[in-house]
Amino acid sequence: MLSLLSWFFPNALVVFAFIFISIYFYIQHNLSYWKRKGVPSPPTHWLFGNFKDAILGRMSAGNLLGKLHKEAGDEPFIGLYVMHKPFFLMRDPELVKQVFVKDFQVFQNRYFAAVKSKDLIASTGLFSINNPEWKYLRMKLSPVFSSGKQKKLFSLMIESSENMRKFLGDQLNENEKVQNVDAYIVSIRYITDVISSLAYGVRTNSFGQDQEFFNRSREPFKKSLIASIVLFVIFFFPVISNFIVLFHTNILGSSTNYFRNLFWDVMNQRERSGNKRGDSIDPLLEIKHERDKLDFDIPDDTLLAQPVIFSIAGTESSSITIAQTLVELAKNPVLQDQVRKNIKEELKEHGFTYEGIKEMKLLYQAISETLRLYPPAPIIDRVALQDYKIPGTDIVVEKGTAVYAALNGLHEDPRFYKEPLKYDPDRFSEERKGDITPCAYIPFGIGPRACIGERVGMLQTAVGLATILRDYEVALNPLYKNGLDPKAIFIEPLDGVKIDFKKISK
Ligand code: HEM
Repeated sequence: MLSLLSWFFPNALVVFAFIFISIYFYIQHNLSYWKRKGVPSPPTHWLFGNFKDAILGRMSAGNLLGKLHKEAGDEPFIGLYVMHKPFFLMRDPELVKQVFVKDFQVFQNRYFAAVKSKDLIASTGLFSINNPEWKYLRMKLSPVFSSGKQKKLFSLMIESSENMRKFLGDQLNENEKVQNVDAYIVSIRYITDVISSLAYGVRTNSFGQDQEFFNRSREPFKKSLIASIVLFVIFFFPVISNFIVLFHTNILGSSTNYFRNLFWDVMNQRERSGNKRGDSIDPLLEIKHERDKLDFDIPDDTLLAQPVIFSIAGTESSSITIAQTLVELAKNPVLQDQVRKNIKEELKEHGFTYEGIKEMKLLYQAISETLRLYPPAPIIDRVALQDYKIPGTDIVVEKGTAVYAALNGLHEDPRFYKEPLKYDPDRFSEERKGDITPCAYIPFGIGPRACIGERVGMLQTAVGLATILRDYEVALNPLYKNGLDPKAIFIEPLDGVKIDFKKISK
């Protein structure tokens, strides 16, 4: 027995040492990928790479990428690792333009959508779908967002904002105040009603008695540790995302059939009536009729995936923008008064009309500044479809590598903005907006794959804010906590956005 032990231990030690040394060299090799390519890279953690704080839920991925951007001095780009996986972060607006616009042929797809998952509703919406389907769907769906359609949508926005106005008015106390309103949730209700018309062709009132549509539309946003992990994996490790579907069934969860039925009811009714309404149901019906002639498949769930992605991409982004603008104006009552004056003057001259809202220049400047400091989708990604030589260098980004721009970094980069952390809507005034470096401000992304809903997003945000600010002075409630959820990939308040509303006497 003793002789067996005396044989085992020295030999086991050798085996363990060998395994340990092999792992060490394997990690060293993985984490020297960028160094070997001559790409600067910040110090890494042996397991988490540069993403320790995001993986441990201490900081959102968007903020972390922004921080890594800011710490990189004058480098035009840096190499990063999410665990051991290499990612390429662009810091130079010229390079951003080159990759997202000029060399779009190489960067047509998003990295996070690299794999079509079993959940077609999640993975084949316009945001995630790859070519050739993307090009076809984008061409078909673009007319829904044209400037010509904005006017029609504007009247639906006014209708939805009136429901919000009534909701706030009904809650006024004897001092003409509504206190501790979660401005984020109120905005989500208002935006849900705008987007339900555009995306599903149905009118809803999320401030009314029937809350079913609203509650079910929140399904993709339900928070849980599993949901955060799943989102992280889909975003940064899409290749393994099909495995996680095993324990996370699909994006609409228990509401999948509710939305399937609702969508097909509207599609069938519209088909029978033959009327066009200018919403996304019109092109989706066209696609349904011509899909047999295409070289690729457009299954039923891919049709449904389009209203679903419009609802997901269009709701949180504008709602957080409304809420964060209210926060900034609550912090700066002088600026708030100026914005209100601008709103009231235009209302007096044009009424609450499409032409009038377009004239609310200071309001639009404030929204643009909110989108600079709080970009709702702070990470823009693409994947290289072939080896790509970075212009002016010998560095080759290999096929399959994820390429990112971090908006929290670009938008707060002192190379492009004076006093970058100051909330200053005047940056976007006629006189000064020419000073902004092209591509250093891209809250809606850039190039052929930029946000399809930019105009709708700006308009519904402006209508929502004008509706609130014409009637109410806003202040931060004492319970307001200045914090964004560190576990969110995109931007989300940690604990609502608590605002006090005080009715303005006429
Ligand atoms: C304040 C509002 C909004 C912001 C800040 C925003 C931001 C963005 C960003 C940064 C992207 C990625 C762009 C890129 O990769 O270059 C994007 C894509 C997208 N957004 Fe928006 N968005 C907003 C509103 C909307 C609305 C209202 C809709 C629809 C109703 C929408 C639908 C989409 C879709 C479908 C895509 C994917 C486009 C494609 O891949 O072809 N967004 N958005």
